Amino acid sequence: MQFYATGASAARQRSACAIVGIHERAAMTGPARDLDRRMGGAISRLLKRGDFNGKAGEVLPIVGARGGPAERVLLVGLGARKEYGRKAYRRAVVAATQWLAKGGAANAALYLPQEPVPGLDAYYATRFTVESVCAALYRIPDLKSGRKPPRARLTRFGIGVPAADLAAARRGIRDGRGIAAGMALTRDLANLPANVCTPTYLSSAARRLAGEHRKVRARVLDVRAIRRLRMGSFLSVTRGSDEPPRLIVLEYRGARAGTAPVALVGKGITFDTGGISLKQPTAMDEMKFDMSGAASVFGAIKALATIGAAVNVVGIIPACENMPSGRATKPGDIVTSMSGKTIEVLNTDAEGRLILCDGISYARRFKPRVVVDIATLTGACVIALGAHYCGLFSPDEKLAASIAAAGERSDDRAWRMPVAEEYTDLLKSNFADIANVAGREAGAITAACFLWKFTDGLRWAHLDIAGTAYLSGNHKGSTGRPVPLLADWLLQGD
Ligand code: BES
Ligand code: MN
Ligand code: ZN
Repeated sequence: MQFYATGASAARQRSACAIVGIHERAAMTGPARDLDRRMGGAISRLLKRGDFNGKAGEVLPIVGARGGPAERVLLVGLGARKEYGRKAYRRAVVAATQWLAKGGAANAALYLPQEPVPGLDAYYATRFTVESVCAALYRIPDLKSGRKPPRARLTRFGIGVPAADLAAARRGIRDGRGIAAGMALTRDLANLPANVCTPTYLSSAARRLAGEHRKVRARVLDVRAIRRLRMGSFLSVTRGSDEPPRLIVLEYRGARAGTAPVALVGKGITFDTGGISLKQPTAMDEMKFDMSGAASVFGAIKALATIGAAVNVVGIIPACENMPSGRATKPGDIVTSMSGKTIEVLNTDAEGRLILCDGISYARRFKPRVVVDIATLTGACVIALGAHYCGLFSPDEKLAASIAAAGERSDDRAWRMPVAEEYTDLLKSNFADIANVAGREAGAITAACFLWKFTDGLRWAHLDIAGTAYLSGNHKGSTGRPVPLLADWLLQGD
């Protein structure tokens, strides 16, 4: 897909589809008015007849449009003018791009940003538009044996902005393309079934990513190397599985060699049965998404490499399955983590924290500026925040604020929850330094507090994406989150 920014008017620029916005119960202005004039008042007549009202997200295609420079005109509703802002803009763009993805237009141009959007600058308006076009065109790499539905025709997409905003719009396009590419990679990996997407498969995906980008390097450690690192906690999770575990290290070097990297540690459980603390069968298939944190690390690095961002990032991915077997770790077993801390594994289904604590310890050797771990860590976080905000945990006020702000800017939101000693007290064990679970209360927080105990001297934040990484039900599939948040935060710095 080719994107371009243009300062030209909707009434002049030729394209197979011109997309203009209409407000509810308000006179047409800007691009819509210009186009209407060129078309001899055809849009005005439609509005007068009540065929289109301009409600937020409403779309009306005029196919075979006469008089204007476009064969098709797509009217999109922007809602009431006084309520117009980033939310209504996003709704309109999503509706328009979803319509386009189903249609026959090979190229299109969207003129909404030519009029000011309250609370949204040209950079974010174009960036979001690019992300939205790519999301509408995204197809799950399914394994259906029937005939594939035809691919969308759309190959060229213009975004009309005021001439003064062209430079910002071009940056928005560059970053939007990168983020969209990252999200597509994240979604592809997370959507694959666990019998395909094994730790070994993730390792080859890492090598593939390194092959595609000069500044990306991949290293893969096998079980012997993991043993040598004394990652007893990580190894305790993989014991019951016949799939060999991997520790994947992805490095993106976009800044000077001496610049301390940001470390992203992603939970890479390619399937979570719960182990001996076996899960209930309901929706257990969704535990193939338990490597979504890892997939988002792939995606963030893909985004930065596509953009060519001037940052250094190291991605650390402990990848394994959590299975029951005669060799599996049992409740009550005590293991020694890479940090030297001993852990009483009271519940083998609290495995994410067991692989992440060793991943965080390993991150230390890169002398990172910040460590952020990303994980589908707790069902409790889904109960607390649902599918809209992910959980954000950090004892560092400034770091938490900068990540939350990146979430707001990129519409990939994170809500801060506490880490505090009162909660770590609940993780006391009679037999080891720490237990891997506390009681039922505050499950997302006690999980974060477990990880916190492994972050002495680090600037650290934790994202619990259990509710946001994928959708259930009819739209089951990976969302590609939190790639927009991570990319935005890494692009802007903290
Ligand atoms: N992968 C799950 C968390 C999860 C649950 C993600 C539902 C997405 C949807 C994690 O490994 C887990 O099993 N957590 C347990 C922790 C408990 C045993 C303390 C949970 O949330 O039930
Ligand atoms: Mn689990
Ligand atoms: Zn899990």
